[in-house]
Amino acid sequence: MRILITGSSGMLGRELAERLHPAHELILRDIDGLDVRDASAVYGEIKRLSPEVVINCAAATDVDWCEYYPEQAFAVNAEGARNIAEACAVTGALMCHLSTDYVFDGSATRPYTEQDIPHPISVYGRSKLAGERYVREIVSRHIIVRTSWLYGVYGKNFIETILRLSETRHELRVVNDQTGSPTYAEDLAWVIEQLVTLPAPYGTYHVCNTGICTWHDFAVAALSLAGRQTAVVPITTEELGRAAPRPRFSVLDNAHVSATLGITLRHWCDALTAYMYKRKGVYR
Ligand SMILES: NC(=O)c1ccc[n+]([C@@H]2O[C@H](COP(=O)([O-])OP(=O)(O)OC[C@H]3O[C@@H](n4cnc5c(N)ncnc54)[C@H](OP(=O)(O)O)[C@@H]3O)[C@@H](O)[C@H]2O)c1
Repeated sequence: MRILITGSSGMLGRELAERLHPAHELILRDIDGLDVRDASAVYGEIKRLSPEVVINCAAATDVDWCEYYPEQAFAVNAEGARNIAEACAVTGALMCHLSTDYVFDGSATRPYTEQDIPHPISVYGRSKLAGERYVREIVSRHIIVRTSWLYGVYGKNFIETILRLSETRHELRVVNDQTGSPTYAEDLAWVIEQLVTLPAPYGTYHVCNTGICTWHDFAVAALSLAGRQTAVVPITTEELGRAAPRPRFSVLDNAHVSATLGITLRHWCDALTAYMYKRKGVYR
């Protein structure tokens, strides 16, 4: 299958490239090769390359940066998605678009399903939701994948920050009032491959590892697996004082993708163990 990945230098883009090669013919475009904000470039490239599938990994993902630069956030996360959707609608390519748990406000008391009404509380969440809406409206052949708390060996992520800080500090302060489901990028790439190559019914899918935790739990588990003795002090979101509000509870229910593909995503603890093993070969 001929597959174009936009935002291919990012964490998920690189993971997908590793996953899909060499079984598929991959065309990789990072921001220098294809800026998704440039509608005519996007249209021209998708027309010229004629991929069967476009996986849009391009995004402005720094949640606090988005709060300060809303226009730029919308230009990438919303209009960028629209540009790709318009090109796919013309060429007939299947569009797989990545979205986020941050489209929800976090007021739920049970995991969010695909039927729940989004209500983002940050610029990032609003811009990603706008991108989703463009995709749904413009290209009927679409798969929207919402994921959460993504980490992998090919990008800056929470676990690497914790491990790096633990090298120089005896004590770390980590938020304990946000609950979610961490998602290992390798597992997400495995699911996306199945969704786009089978292909699964069009629509929206929640994809995350199984089980829930707080950032504090996640940090404690990573430090324990790394054999570090660093103390982890639980703090509140207010104490951390970030620019963008975060949903307090953003657990995604992955039952729909599990039933559709006949798979079970592993527990986040098992995925984290696999990550800790793989990272040894990457971060020497
Ligand atoms: N990371 C998470 O925790 C998380 C959670 C839920 C959902 N998601 C979603 O999952 C997807 C992949 O995220 P990720 O973690 O792989 O993000 P990432 O590592 O930040 O990768 C995004 C890539 O997009 C590129 N990009 C930015 N602006 C672009 C533009 N105008 N045109 C083309 N490329 C552009 C970035 O390039 P530069 O680095 O040069 O800017 C980067 O290579 C995104 O849709 C994100 O919203 C992520």
